[in-house]
Amino acid sequence: MHDHKFDPVKAERLLAPERYQKIKPDILLQKLGVPPGSTILDLGCGNGFFTFPASAAMGENGMVIAADSSGEMLQLLSDRNPRDNVQVLQVEEVAMDVDSDSVDGAVLINLYHELDDRTASLKELKRVLKPNGHLLILDWSPEIEYTSGPPLEHRIPIKMAVEELTSAGFKVDKKERYTEETWLIVAHLV
Ligand SMILES: C[S@@+](CC[C@H](N)C(=O)[O-])C[C@H]1O[C@@H](n2cnc3c(N)ncnc32)[C@H](O)[C@@H]1O
Repeated sequence: MHDHKFDPVKAERLLAPERYQKIKPDILLQKLGVPPGSTILDLGCGNGFFTFPASAAMGENGMVIAADSSGEMLQLLSDRNPRDNVQVLQVEEVAMDVDSDSVDGAVLINLYHELDDRTASLKELKRVLKPNGHLLILDWSPEIEYTSGPPLEHRIPIKMAVEELTSAGFKVDKKERYTEETWLIVAHLV
């Protein structure tokens, strides 16, 4: 395992009430802007911090693909008994067994800095997103004084992420500081 990958031993922290209060999945769903009945890909879903609120919001006619490269994290998610509209999917570092043009919205929460090959992963996300599909990325900012989270040298500046998304063929609609420690980008396919 690369040293920038999340250690499942710390999984419980991801579901801490303080984290829900800070990151507010409902606000992320609003910013993503896909209606109930849509298909959301929660890539790097971990033990389901965002999967569960997203599955409630998408409703029985919608779907959440809870995708992670770690079988251990996915087992923790399954142990929490997700609804029937959640598909639990183990993926490769880049490739995922998801149909092309099938996803309305893809969400990456605290995953972007862990990806081994961001260009290849963005290409794979482009493949699975429907034309005009939306992508939301939330990740750690390096532009703060270190208090918690991954080391500053593992974090990606928002400016670099915007450039990478633009080069990959996305149009950036929102780019903002989200919490004290994180930035957020919403983009769509052009
Ligand atoms: C810091 S955790 C965040 C989990 C969840 N998104 C959250 O916010 O609670 C990062 C997750 O991404 C997963 N991951 C790392 N690289 C991945 C990849 N290339 N594809 C899918 N999942 C990946 C890790 O196994 C881990 O579960």
